[in-house]
Amino acid sequence: MNLFLKKSITQLLADAKETDKSLKRTLSASSLVALGIGAIIGAGLFVRTAAAAAQHAGPAVTIGFLIASIGCALAGLCYAELSSSIPIAGSAYTYSYATMGELIAWIIGWDLILEYAVGAATVGIAWTEYLNNLLVNVIGTSPIPYELSHSPFETSLDGLHTGIINLPALLIVTILTFLLIKGTHESALVNGIIVVAKVAIVILIIVIGWGFINPVNHTPYIPPAGTYTDNQGITFDYGGILGILGAAGVVFFAFIGFDAVSTTAQEAKDPKKDMPIGILGSLAVCTVLYILFGHVLTGVASIEDFRTTGREASVAFAINKYMTGYAWLGHTVTIAILFGFSSVILVMLLGQSRVFYAMSCDGLMPKMFSQLHPKYKTPYKANLFILILVGLFAAFVPGDIVGDMTSIGTLFAFMLVCGAVIILRKTNPDLPRQFKTPWVPFVPIAGIVVCGLMIYGLGWLNWLRLFIWLAIGLAIYFLYSRKHSLLQKGILVDPKDPPAPKIEE
Ligand code: ALA
Repeated sequence: MNLFLKKSITQLLADAKETDKSLKRTLSASSLVALGIGAIIGAGLFVRTAAAAAQHAGPAVTIGFLIASIGCALAGLCYAELSSSIPIAGSAYTYSYATMGELIAWIIGWDLILEYAVGAATVGIAWTEYLNNLLVNVIGTSPIPYELSHSPFETSLDGLHTGIINLPALLIVTILTFLLIKGTHESALVNGIIVVAKVAIVILIIVIGWGFINPVNHTPYIPPAGTYTDNQGITFDYGGILGILGAAGVVFFAFIGFDAVSTTAQEAKDPKKDMPIGILGSLAVCTVLYILFGHVLTGVASIEDFRTTGREASVAFAINKYMTGYAWLGHTVTIAILFGFSSVILVMLLGQSRVFYAMSCDGLMPKMFSQLHPKYKTPYKANLFILILVGLFAAFVPGDIVGDMTSIGTLFAFMLVCGAVIILRKTNPDLPRQFKTPWVPFVPIAGIVVCGLMIYGLGWLNWLRLFIWLAIGLAIYFLYSRKHSLLQKGILVDPKDPPAPKIEE
């Protein structure tokens, strides 16, 4: 049995012709940028920024944003080459199956669960924070009790309450899963409105908040190297270079989703020109907004705030406490965030079901994940299984932990994608590439190094979690997937006969 058996590129392209006939080349560079921004701005900015500042880098979280964006740009250029040479509406899983073989493809697919499913749980938990803020500061009622809106591993600041289950997070992922099963995709109009609202509130906060920056909060801008222990007893490297790398790893979450642009290679009007503009353009816009936003947020409220009362719903907290006369902004931000987060969760759940679907069609995951609903024609069993997975994380694990797991898992997948470009240039030099990553191997190697540095900054606890996650994945591969792989059985080798999705009667 060959662990490095590869799907041939001809096979993949044939699959694509069969299955993606309907995709039309309608996306211009600007719509790709909008698509990217829609998938990007979310909990990373509105929740994880304050956590990165409080736990790792203080105001220098802005430098963390810069490092994270460099890592994303380098990996993004690699994604663009893969998606334009293997133009399948898919993901890193599909690309790696053709370039690095089954075992690595499995690892990436397994790793993408961290990006999509655990990422969706992170945004769900962030949603709870802003829901409580809506109840208290906008509607004026009491919040959902601490016990029912936090995981069992969290204790309130006064030490009087311990969480049991995060019910609102569970609720929002459940509602969105059922919408997905019904086949609901966000319409272009809704996506457009949400993108405009998200960008507008970020700009409003930057412009209005700038006048409320208290220079004391920015001194020193880069805190000296040391440690910080939070009220749950977790110790972080704070300040100095390690603190900045840690912050970069945490806020890297805020950029996740830009790779969604690369999965639309088939729909781009002129992929050669539009893909790099789409990927780098949305990254550039977000980087500038994020750095300015981080600068304003850490200037308006203090690090001490973000470690205590402003730990949750940090942005609304900073506005309500320090930006006198702008209560309306706090309210608008809260409402926009609740919608904005929902759209990010929807995209992540959809991404996850696509990955499971693809893995199931290849036999690496149980067949039931590619069974379509008789009426809605959606992979509902995959969606329901994902709901259980995401729901468990959302309900019972703290936001900090799932957020960092998402970051580290995605960073690892990005490193493998960078490696794939180097390998594919050697193994398939003549493959037509509509977009070529510049300066190979420098760009992919630099991508691997920068993403590796962020993984380093996330600290040993997160390395351990990634290691355990990968170990579980490998166990499943060797016990199940390897034996059921259609490619290993030789079933997938005829490109004229791709497996048809099964529809249940
Ligand atoms: N980048 C997305 C967010 O920050 C995942 O919510």
